[in-house]
Amino acid sequence: LRWLWLFLGSALLLSMGGCSQIEVLNPKGPAARDQFHLFQLTLYLMLAVLAIVIFIYIYFLVKYRWTPERKNVVPRGSAGNKKLEITWTVIPIIILIIIAVPTVQDTYKLSKATAPKQWKDTLMIKVTAHQFWWEFEYPEEGVKTSDVVHIPANRDVVFVITSKDTIHSLWIPQLGGKMDAVPGKTNRLWIKADNTGTYEGKCAELCGAGHAYMLFQVKADSQADFDKWMGQMKQEEVPSTEKEKAGREVFAKTCLSCHAVNDDSFKKMGDSAPNLTGFADHDRIASVLPNTKENLKKWLDDSEKYKPGSKMPPFNMLSKKDKNHLIAYLQSLTRKQDLENGRQK
Ligand code: CUA
Repeated sequence: LRWLWLFLGSALLLSMGGCSQIEVLNPKGPAARDQFHLFQLTLYLMLAVLAIVIFIYIYFLVKYRWTPERKNVVPRGSAGNKKLEITWTVIPIIILIIIAVPTVQDTYKLSKATAPKQWKDTLMIKVTAHQFWWEFEYPEEGVKTSDVVHIPANRDVVFVITSKDTIHSLWIPQLGGKMDAVPGKTNRLWIKADNTGTYEGKCAELCGAGHAYMLFQVKADSQADFDKWMGQMKQEEVPSTEKEKAGREVFAKTCLSCHAVNDDSFKKMGDSAPNLTGFADHDRIASVLPNTKENLKKWLDDSEKYKPGSKMPPFNMLSKKDKNHLIAYLQSLTRKQDLENGRQK
């Protein structure tokens, strides 16, 4: 019974979305909904079995409890009871069939949706997992983003997923997940959002010190907003103020060996760290800190503190002036978009 409470307790926690803002039992798209219904079916069946077993258990405990009259009674055995044996063989078979049929159906449906044959109206996005961030690439548009991925709502999206280092797992419970990101191998995952909105995702495979902070966001826009966003992502980042321009110089000297930004005059750019195009539009810095000036300073000084295992070295050796310029530049990496959902207010 203790296990029952433990189980119910964890189910309750899950349904409240215990970890950060991730809602596990609140599907917002067809792929997630299919999986949720499957989960419901198995859960209710399991609870029914559990209830019946516990009931029988308690019933017999009470009925055949020890009494002084029964002191020397040896119960009659019931070995070889055909009726009983057939019953407890057939019932589990029926339960397994009830679970197996929709499971196999859903499995085929999900894998069919990710087959390249079906991609006529599908948006394909390449996903590369890194310790401890996510890279999203729109190959047809030549656009890369990190930790925030925009998709059009109400349209099929297929993620083609791989990893640069260890095994990670991409998980967006509200839209349909999860799928392993394995180095040297690609896996495909179908997602679709019913409505516009922001959906939280995270890495669901223990991958190192920063695993718990390997978060990302899916922003589902209307098709018009999505096109607008894509157009803005393709524009060059041009700093406007003197401060931002000075910050751009600092960026070129210190950050460009690992990071990249959409700027034609940056010839050689790194790809071992997040592409920061449109950075100021992100709600969070590196998925862990609200995107403010103060937090950006904290992050530059000691990223390890906020994301253990982060490969970003501390930049506390930068002069105060350089740091302020750099922050001004990073905060100018915005698309100045007025999307319904894309931009933090
Ligand atoms: Cu990546 Cu856990």
